[in-house]
Amino acid sequence: MGDRFRLDGLTAVVTGGGGGVGAAGAEALAQAGADVVLIARNRAKLEAAAGSVEAQGRRAWIVEADVTDAASVKAAADQIAAEAGKVDILFNNAGVTSPKTLFDLPPEEFRRILDVNVSGAFLCAQAFAPGMVARRFGRIINMGSILSGRGMASRTAYSASKAGLANLGAALAFELGPHGVTVNTLGATVVVTDLNRELVRTQPELYGQVVKRTALGRLGELADLTGVLVFLASDAARFITGQTLYVDGGYTAG
Ligand SMILES: NC(=O)c1ccc[n+]([C@@H]2O[C@H](COP(=O)([O-])OP(=O)(O)OC[C@H]3O[C@@H](n4cnc5c(N)ncnc54)[C@H](OP(=O)(O)O)[C@@H]3O)[C@@H](O)[C@H]2O)c1
Repeated sequence: MGDRFRLDGLTAVVTGGGGGVGAAGAEALAQAGADVVLIARNRAKLEAAAGSVEAQGRRAWIVEADVTDAASVKAAADQIAAEAGKVDILFNNAGVTSPKTLFDLPPEEFRRILDVNVSGAFLCAQAFAPGMVARRFGRIINMGSILSGRGMASRTAYSASKAGLANLGAALAFELGPHGVTVNTLGATVVVTDLNRELVRTQPELYGQVVKRTALGRLGELADLTGVLVFLASDAARFITGQTLYVDGGYTAG
């Protein structure tokens, strides 16, 4: 039974692999047996994350790329094909946020957030799904949010983007399902990382409300997410697709 949760012999691509969730996810995938390709724009952070993968006895590759740039994603896919070979798991994790409301969010900032959080996942799926389809096996896991299925004031663009990402996943589940590829979204609650550390510090009321309406009464931790990521990538989750799996201590149950 335990073997069904292992990822030995598989290769995962993790976008935003230098950051909190991406780096922790990469380490967990490696612990479960996968080799990992880490993608982001900042090489220095990727190097630290690659070290954590290698510490698990797995291979790590670093690829500098901007997920919003189709040519950059294509070049990354070519580099990965040459250096790492096949890609079995795509963790679409690169993401950005903004704390602005409808009235103070510049249109270009709104577009930028949708570009990274939705178009980036689309471009990566477009780059890596063909190989999965050809081999009739693949796992695409999108990094969603509790805001994938509901809104929050002053998270205007982020709410729109994470809902778009989840529904992109649902559509891709139908397109890729007949080819043996599953597509799911991980709906995470707040975990303090570089993405939101300053917001958590300056908006204690908002985050206090999140804790208050969470059944388990706290914010998330990276370790709350990584096991679910490995599960969704594994054979144990082979009949789950098109879903948003909330890992939120019960926040969305209320
Ligand atoms: N932290 C939370 O509370 C929380 C909750 C739910 C969901 N999430 C989601 O989890 C994911 C990871 O966030 P995090 O909390 O770990 O934040 P983070 O530490 O800021 O990580 C974000 C990562 O995305 C990368 N990135 C941003 N723009 C990119 C681009 N254009 N091309 C390639 N990579 C890009 C960043 O690397 P570079 O800047 O070097 O490119 C960084 O590695 C995001 O999708 C976020 O929305 C986070």
